[in-house]
Amino acid sequence: MASGRDRLLVVGGDSSLGAALADHFSGADWQVQATTRRPDHVDASHPFLDLTAPIADLPDADVVILSAAAARIGDCEEDPAATRRINVEGTLAVARHMAWRGAHIVLLSSDKVFDGTEPRRDRNDDPCPACEYGRQKAAAEAGVLALGGQGAVLRLSKVLTPDLDLLADWARDLDAQEPITPFHDLYLAPVPMDLVARTTAHIAKDRAMGVYHCTGAADHNYVDLAHALAASLGADPALIQPTSCQAANIPAAARPRHTTLEMAIEEQRWGITAPEFDDTALQVTAQAV
Ligand SMILES: NC(=O)c1ccc[n+]([C@@H]2O[C@H](COP(=O)([O-])OP(=O)(O)OC[C@H]3O[C@@H](n4cnc5c(N)ncnc54)[C@H](OP(=O)(O)O)[C@@H]3O)[C@@H](O)[C@H]2O)c1
Repeated sequence: MASGRDRLLVVGGDSSLGAALADHFSGADWQVQATTRRPDHVDASHPFLDLTAPIADLPDADVVILSAAAARIGDCEEDPAATRRINVEGTLAVARHMAWRGAHIVLLSSDKVFDGTEPRRDRNDDPCPACEYGRQKAAAEAGVLALGGQGAVLRLSKVLTPDLDLLADWARDLDAQEPITPFHDLYLAPVPMDLVARTTAHIAKDRAMGVYHCTGAADHNYVDLAHALAASLGADPALIQPTSCQAANIPAAARPRHTTLEMAIEEQRWGITAPEFDDTALQVTAQAV
């Protein structure tokens, strides 16, 4: 497959972000392969990798993006041992193996390495996770950063994609004139997928090391997101009936008040600034309808 182009390996090609990143980098003239753990997806561009099994035949790569994960907060709370095997042990085994073979490693991480009590957290603050998912991400970060010049971490807040199940469910109900019940006490500072892809591409191209952030500018609640969708659909906003996630027994660790992170270095180095909520919500909901 020698072509003179830089080689990218996406670990977790079937993840929502991993699939979008593989597409973005292919269009940006990288030679892309993306792992899968689904036997029926395996082919020359999609090598098999299960993070709970010993590493078998991975291709050489100049850059590896680690996207596969047990990415649901609830799953990590319910089964810390099994999810840690994926999010920490398996992830770091691949990171160390591919770094040893010369690759630059980029770990997709999360604002959940912080406890959500403060907005725009500084990248140099010590992690202070309030949930098991955040603890696992913090442990994976530490392992990748210990690779030194070969390791980078990209912390993301909620990545809003038009194919998000929640938006599809809401759109279906609003279309049918049925009420929807977004949480008024659950917050997000969304980033659109294209901004995540651009930020990741800068890190990959520069072989940047250390910690990077990509989040929305401010947290809004899910009621605001529902209003953006209703506006895009031309639906009756009276169908939006706010409810409480606390009353729905969502644990406190899964409903932080703040998910924003400071983005000074991204702005200075690449001109990337945190997007405003309305811009992201309207852009993504317009694509979703
Ligand atoms: N989406 C967000 O808003 C967001 C925000 C912050 C950080 N992140 C981070 O970004 C990354 C991608 O998130 P996502 O939302 O795109 O994830 P996702 O859609 O939930 O996909 C997770 C992927 O991990 C794979 N996977 C799970 N266990 C595995 C194992 N044992 N071996 C190999 N692969 C395994 C799954 O494979 P199958 O498809 O075969 O099940 C799935 O494709 C994650 O690291 C996540 O923590 C995401």
